[in-house]
Amino acid sequence: MRGRNKPWADAFILEHANYLLENKNYKFDKPTYLEIGIGKGDFIIQSCKYYQDVFHIGIEVNKSIFALALKKIVEVDNLDNIALLNIDATNILDYIPLNSIDKIFLNFSDPWPKKRHAKRRLVSSRYLKIFKQILKSSGQIVLKTDNKNLMEYAKECFDEENFICVDYFDDYQTVEGDFVSEYETRFRSLNQPIYRIIVKFEKEVKHESN
Ligand SMILES: C[S@@+](CC[C@H](N)C(=O)[O-])C[C@H]1O[C@@H](n2cnc3c(N)ncnc32)[C@H](O)[C@@H]1O
Repeated sequence: MRGRNKPWADAFILEHANYLLENKNYKFDKPTYLEIGIGKGDFIIQSCKYYQDVFHIGIEVNKSIFALALKKIVEVDNLDNIALLNIDATNILDYIPLNSIDKIFLNFSDPWPKKRHAKRRLVSSRYLKIFKQILKSSGQIVLKTDNKNLMEYAKECFDEENFICVDYFDDYQTVEGDFVSEYETRFRSLNQPIYRIIVKFEKEVKHESN
């Protein structure tokens, strides 16, 4: 998603800095969902409204797009189960504790089709190794995409990193408790099939020796 430079972004983010995770003093003491690449925020806003007992964290690297999402979030009354990070997902460990996330959502992540850019895909092993650390045991990654090649690549990487498939759809129809992002709206209007996979990661329980 290209975000045209928004000259007002810096001032707007500063004005609403109370929405930033670093200012929330959140203790990770609730079920916590993380969306990476929130775009303009449609998915995470709907999820916050539906899952009111779940805390949501949204990450978006592009500052202009981040500011647009923040603007939409600020306009929703009483949305207090959300915090945002304007960072690249590679830096997640600087902000999110180990073993703290129940679900990670990747909605229509950039496919980076060229092989030499594979490491930039959010489903590449480079990212999955980081995501595993912040997930709780049995924590899940939920990936939706219109891109078959990205889905095939994701499945290979999930296998390589020992994620277990919980559910897979190659012509996914939205179910209660799932939400449609801006990209999904666009692809559905073009009648493109949507792929969805849910995987989980089991962590070993360490027993203390006497
Ligand atoms: C194709 S758009 C999809 C946006 C939204 N999820 C949707 O479904 O409509 C991908 C978004 O992910 C963001 N993104 C890409 N790589 C990222 C990264 N490494 N860390 C954080 N955000 C990233 C992009 O800036 C872009 O806004």
